[in-house]
Amino acid sequence: MVIAIDGPAGAGKSTVARGVAERLGFTYLDSGAMYRAAALATLEDRREPAEVARTLEIELGERVLANGRDVTAAIRTPEVTEAASRIATDRAVRAALVEKQRELIRRGDWVAEGRDIGTVVAPGAELKIFLTASPEQRARRRAAELGVDWRTVLRDQTLRDEQDRRREHSPLRAAPDAIAIDTTDRTVEDVVTQIAKLARDLRG
Ligand code: CDP
Repeated sequence: MVIAIDGPAGAGKSTVARGVAERLGFTYLDSGAMYRAAALATLEDRREPAEVARTLEIELGERVLANGRDVTAAIRTPEVTEAASRIATDRAVRAALVEKQRELIRRGDWVAEGRDIGTVVAPGAELKIFLTASPEQRARRRAAELGVDWRTVLRDQTLRDEQDRRREHSPLRAAPDAIAIDTTDRTVEDVVTQIAKLARDLRG
């Protein structure tokens, strides 16, 4: 079974997806980490992003490995975050990473999280969730994680949201059959419980 969780930055996707995976004993796929790892490699060796995306060996788990190197922390810097959103507009980059994602989730039970899981990567996913929250709340959450001022985060987040929503290829949008969940005034625990219940009900 595949549970697709999409939505903008700071909506709580990673925390919620991890929580649902743990609750149900599913494997968690952080597709954004792939775009980030490819972006870091592009910044470092100045090769074509599409070439990087095709050839980079990305291993996801407790740690993120790119060609065997631990890049878990390096992919979370603001420079890499910005570069990830930039290379994610490239159709060839997306095609290469989507292929890797589809290959991973072909077998077994997954909670896959990103921007285009329900629309492109796994349109046949049994359960699709679109997580949202107010822009201010999203910025406050991310600022608390990073220990920086939330107004700075809000500015960068607004630019990235625009880039993710307006891009030509696989823009951020909810699949028609996705269930929208607004996490603004809700706890992670509460949202995880709701999604786990939806999944259990589907399984019967
Ligand atoms: O955690 P956060 O929401 O800040 O970002 P992320 O999920 O790690 O993704 C980083 C960037 O990769 C996003 O801004 C998107 O541009 C891109 N991305 C994408 O295009 N498609 C995905 N399935 C996942 C990420």
